[in-house]
Amino acid sequence: MTESVKERIPIASDHAGFEMKEKIAKALSALGFDVQDLGTSSPASTDYPDFGHPLAEEVSTGEVKRGVLLCGTGLGMSYVANRHPHVRAAVAWTPEIAALARKHNDANVLVLPARFISDEDGLAILKAWLDTPFEGGRHQGRVEKIELDDEDGTK
Ligand code: RB5
Repeated sequence: MTESVKERIPIASDHAGFEMKEKIAKALSALGFDVQDLGTSSPASTDYPDFGHPLAEEVSTGEVKRGVLLCGTGLGMSYVANRHPHVRAAVAWTPEIAALARKHNDANVLVLPARFISDEDGLAILKAWLDTPFEGGRHQGRVEKIELDDEDGTK
């Protein structure tokens, strides 16, 4: 009998995303993923880069295929994650945007704006992002053009 290996998905938030992170992590486990919770571990005030960088590093190096971040607006976490090569972090506030972020942008990090969506929305957005494949085709070359070639950040 072959044993299927669960995909590991890291998840992280600051205090503003903490409560929703707990719910999204449970949902990911229930869906059969090996959830790696990178914190934060309480609603106490924190700095979102402290939690966003370690997760983005894992995606950037290819240790994991994808990850989930949460903060109040989604913006701070997306700025952090998108500093890392090969990370395409998308803030999504509807399932449609999450699906388009996969289809057109091959988003490998989902960022949820926890203060502006309901728990129900968060779960629907998560599922759309998990289930939607990248379309490739005309979008392939566009996604490849995102990466900067030089270490000094030029094309
Ligand atoms: C925390 O108050 C809030 O600034 C943070 O969660 C996030 O929205 C930053 O972009």
